[in-house]
Amino acid sequence: KGPFKILVLPGDGIGPEIIKEAVKVLKALGEKKGITFNFQYGLIGGAAIDETGVPLPEETVELGKQSDAILLGAVGGPKWDNLPPEIRPELGGLLKIRKVFDLYANLRPVMFFPELKNASPLKPEIIEGVDILMVRELTGGLYFGEKKRFTTEQGEQAVIDTLIYTEKEVERVVRLGFELAQKRRGKLTLVDKANVLESSRFWREITEEIKKEYPDVELSYMYVDNCAMQLIRNPRQFDVIVTENMFGDILTDEGAVLAGSIGLLPSASLNGKFGLYEPIHGSAPDIAGQNKANPLATILSAGMMLRYSLDCPEEALLIEKAVKAVLQKGYRTGDILEPGTALVTCEEMGDLVAEEILGGVYD
Ligand code: NAD
Ligand code: IPM
Ligand code: MN
Repeated sequence: KGPFKILVLPGDGIGPEIIKEAVKVLKALGEKKGITFNFQYGLIGGAAIDETGVPLPEETVELGKQSDAILLGAVGGPKWDNLPPEIRPELGGLLKIRKVFDLYANLRPVMFFPELKNASPLKPEIIEGVDILMVRELTGGLYFGEKKRFTTEQGEQAVIDTLIYTEKEVERVVRLGFELAQKRRGKLTLVDKANVLESSRFWREITEEIKKEYPDVELSYMYVDNCAMQLIRNPRQFDVIVTENMFGDILTDEGAVLAGSIGLLPSASLNGKFGLYEPIHGSAPDIAGQNKANPLATILSAGMMLRYSLDCPEEALLIEKAVKAVLQKGYRTGDILEPGTALVTCEEMGDLVAEEILGGVYD
């Protein structure tokens, strides 16, 4: 299969550390399965600001256009926090690349790892068997609406962030939610704040229309505050959740606690088959440069890339099995360490998964 052109964007903080391990795992997979990956490296975020003065150089966008998929570490950090917002790593880098490639659907699976059932602060019987697919709208809403500071008629300082969605923007992501639910357990929950927000009522109207095309999908609505509570009270009630940008951002970090650590959750940001793949966590400045970040979220993101952009579902499964095998053997980075398990570095974790792929035997 292939050759596949992958644009690799390490970014900032722990980004380069975790990306190195994901690339290592992909190379091992390529060797094992006879797949050629051509990795090209690009700049984004603070790293790009330092080198070129801008958080998303044109060259990075061009490289992206020439590739089959993008694999990204994380961006941001205290060094760039006081720059004007538009040229900060988050807005000018990450949000911009999402917008440039119109990556409107952010798939964030929240899964239960039996090996880690005691790593979560939640009781094992609560998280056992959790398998949720959160679909976060990624290129609209508050993140991309007009923002401005102004002075009121009374001379007071004031601010506006605009939550804007067009019909098409809502329709395409909700439709994907139905499609995905159909292929899973047939349950879709639209999470919103329709008791307050006009935008949420708009989402519901559109969803009611689309629902008619998917009679086999059981649709329900839930307010986001209740959802935040239900997620840790009874997470097994959820199959596919679809929600707007900001709610999805917040709920997926919460979802990470079900899995055991934010260092475990991968994501795919899709526009059809093309996608950008990144862990849901950030650049973790508090542990950057110490070789102790958990690379599994990024490794699993590479797995999602194989599944969604490269038509390699079996290879994706192989990565997931290798990760499971390493966890089963008791190896843990610091974020999921428990009594009786063995602490490994970020690099060692990548080595272990790669070795598992090269040497492991799976049915
Ligand atoms: P964060 O996700 O970077 O870190 C939150 C906490 O989780 C920290 O204690 C961190 O050490 C820990 N953590 C995160 N990833 C980990 C991993 N792989 N292994 C072990 N522990 C891990 O969120 P934050 O601290 O709010 O933000 C830090 C910076 O990252 C900010 O500049 C923020 O804007 C940026 N950020 C970027 C992205 C992205 O690039 N997609 C996402 C979120 C935050
Ligand atoms: C994420 C991050 C980003 C977001 C930030 C860094 C802009 O938190 O990918 O979840 O809010 O989308
Ligand atoms: Mn986030």
